[in-house]
Amino acid sequence: MAQRLAAWTQRTKRSALQDMLELTSGPEYISFGLGLPSTECFPAEQLAISAGEVLLRQSDPLQYGPPTERLKRQIQLLMSERGVTCSTSQIFLTAGAQQGISLLARLLLDPGKTILTEEVTYTGFLQAVEPYQPRILTVPTDPVMGIDVEQAEKVLQTGERPACMYVIPSGHNPLSYTLSREKRQRLAQLAADYEVPIIEDDPYGFLAYEDSEIPAVKSFQPDWVYYVGSFSKILAPGLRLGWIVAGGEIVEKLSIVKEAADINTRTLTQQITANFLQKDEFTEHLQHLRQEYRSRRNSMIDHLYTQMGDYASWTTPSSGLFIWVRFPESVDTMELFRESIATEKVTFFPGNIFAVNESQMAASSVRLNFSFNNHDKIEEGITRLSRLVNRHRK
Ligand SMILES: Cc1ncc(COP(=O)(O)O)c(C=O)c1O
Repeated sequence: MAQRLAAWTQRTKRSALQDMLELTSGPEYISFGLGLPSTECFPAEQLAISAGEVLLRQSDPLQYGPPTERLKRQIQLLMSERGVTCSTSQIFLTAGAQQGISLLARLLLDPGKTILTEEVTYTGFLQAVEPYQPRILTVPTDPVMGIDVEQAEKVLQTGERPACMYVIPSGHNPLSYTLSREKRQRLAQLAADYEVPIIEDDPYGFLAYEDSEIPAVKSFQPDWVYYVGSFSKILAPGLRLGWIVAGGEIVEKLSIVKEAADINTRTLTQQITANFLQKDEFTEHLQHLRQEYRSRRNSMIDHLYTQMGDYASWTTPSSGLFIWVRFPESVDTMELFRESIATEKVTFFPGNIFAVNESQMAASSVRLNFSFNNHDKIEEGITRLSRLVNRHRK
């Protein structure tokens, strides 16, 4: 059977960790593993009302259909909050950010081409590019300062011209940093100077917990940055709805690639979401979400501080859904994870699964999600984690 599949599939395998996380989804486990939004925060009732309106009063929500212009206009307004001015013809609807990344990879990569990314990054991007077997150039990154833009420039100065650079500037998954305005400007400038497009993956851009929101990288360079947005973390991932903002030519090509993948983004989901966004309730919903996640973040940090403050370190994320916790280098967090499954029953992601190549910094770190659990579960989960870590303290 394997012989009939494309060559690249023979090198791929499901990670043992994914299997493990599925096996540990029972109620006795507390999960800080997956990046799930809070179930209690889904605006289920309002979406049900929108669904009723759409299904009973609009003529074609169950039909194949072109992108809903009403939704694109709402996204255009949202983009202005990220500092991006665009026309609706530059907005392309997708079935989530993951599809956005995959479609862009399909458009930008020939087999064996080079890409540039951080040494620790979102695994979904690596999965999206895997069929093209790219040569992956990495630059150092850091949970506080983020991607090393100077190093990225040094790589480009050597004459390398990657097919794209991939960045997650706000609420980075997994490192949790939010890139400064200056670094965004420099990245945007690099893209233009060296004519290397940036894929700006921004599913957390609307989840800023501090007052000042930093504009998207795209706001500094409209031509060389392809912006990828998503409703997964601000409405519900079950909608499977996201978007790309790019130039008209790219949008045209994207629609060809998208047609081959799934014909069109679900008409029903588009219309339900457009109805919901048209009401003021969305602004209220987003405010509530930010408030709730800020308080869950604070709660996790308080418990980390009281229980592990003398042993672990982290930075308070100003956006996103994760805290990146670093332990002394002697701690192997993969080992910690295996032990946790058997004893304390708290799940998290060991840092090394996000490392493009092995990384000492990542190997002794964990990614904790703070959005999914309520305050009691957060306290209980951190208590369990701390008990586990204490057993490893020398
Ligand atoms: C950085 C990043 N990009 C993309 C995605 C995928 O998002 P979506 O549900 O919109 O496909 C995620 C989901 O966790 C993510 O963290």
